[in-house]
Amino acid sequence: MKILSVVGARPNFMKIAPLIRTIKKQKDIKHTLVHTGQHYDYAMSESFFKELRIPKPDINLEVGSGSHARQVSQIMARFEAIALKEKPDIVLVVGDVNSTMACSLVAVKLGIAVAHVEAGLRSFDRNMPEEINRLVTDSVADIFFTTSPDATEHLVKEGIPKERIFFVGNVMIDTLLDNLGQAKKSGILRRNKLVKKNYALVTLHRPSNVDTKKGLGTILCAINKIQKRIKVVFPIHPRTRSNLKAFFPKSALKSMENLILLDPQGYLDFLNLMMNASFVITDSGGIQEETTVLGIPCLTARENTERPITLTEGTNILVGLNEARIVKEGMKILNKQGKKRRIPKYWDGKAAQRIVKVLIALNKQKRLRRP
Ligand code: UD1
Repeated sequence: MKILSVVGARPNFMKIAPLIRTIKKQKDIKHTLVHTGQHYDYAMSESFFKELRIPKPDINLEVGSGSHARQVSQIMARFEAIALKEKPDIVLVVGDVNSTMACSLVAVKLGIAVAHVEAGLRSFDRNMPEEINRLVTDSVADIFFTTSPDATEHLVKEGIPKERIFFVGNVMIDTLLDNLGQAKKSGILRRNKLVKKNYALVTLHRPSNVDTKKGLGTILCAINKIQKRIKVVFPIHPRTRSNLKAFFPKSALKSMENLILLDPQGYLDFLNLMMNASFVITDSGGIQEETTVLGIPCLTARENTERPITLTEGTNILVGLNEARIVKEGMKILNKQGKKRRIPKYWDGKAAQRIVKVLIALNKQKRLRRP
């Protein structure tokens, strides 16, 4: 069997790492890794390959940044040539980024089976580019691996045959559990003079939060209030950094004495920052899941989440783009009123093993493609 895996942007890398490691243990599987080049900076891409011991991509499409249409069309054109040449039995895609959707579309039109890892998540917010990517990918994919029962339910409602949906758990958590020991050795706290459980950690990159002056301003006002009580560490995504520069004078941030701005961090340093934080404010999808497993309170600066299990079972609280709510919930946590959590089923470090087992079985039964 020949599997071609696709990665493009930062959150893909931690999802693909355990899959590749598991696939490589199978003598009968030939594997090719394609990087679309959606993310290309060392800090956004290469550092993750090094730390997570992901083999160098066999092929890099080097598409880089651009508008949605430009990025997606370039990925599609370049990926088509690769898929035609490689002729894999399965194109394995993860998550919900532009690269996931673009390569799924190409593969299905060439008659290649598409397996989607992290299928079925829905925010029901069609303003999010990721929601459109999820809907398109799941409408064409052949094999669906879900992280939670709600995701399976969405797929069934959308007409996907039950026998093509596999509830396997969360590959992102495979990577988290695999790297906890290494992450504990990171010197990031010392280097930034931080004390365990004595700082809040912030990450922001969603266009809906950071692409408008009002949105970004609201969150900055909340951070300003929180940093009067506790240090705030903020590794800045490139999109957010350029918008901060465009919308606000430098002095706006400099006046916040307890705010520590950092470049995007590598996986191990960031994991260390997360596991030792008092709480996290984020608009990321993956961080909602990681904080749930780590037991760290998470305030999600969005109106909705495609990962509701982190609300019902985990540490996550939706605070919207609402300054007062962000500050109120942050203060509650500092006053020791955090949520109890339970780790969701199958978020146990073995999701990749379950996935590879299913792929091998489907291939044997010649059932890789949807009838
Ligand atoms: C993408 C994903 C998002 C994911 C996020 C993680 C889509 C639609 N969005 O959003 O789901 O959560 O990655 O980071 O696929 N840039 C750099 N260096 C890089 C990469 C990007 O400077 O290595 C800058 C570019 O100016 C670019 C901007 O960041 O225009 C945004 O990058 P892009 O990949 O378009 O989307 P993200 O916002 O990163």
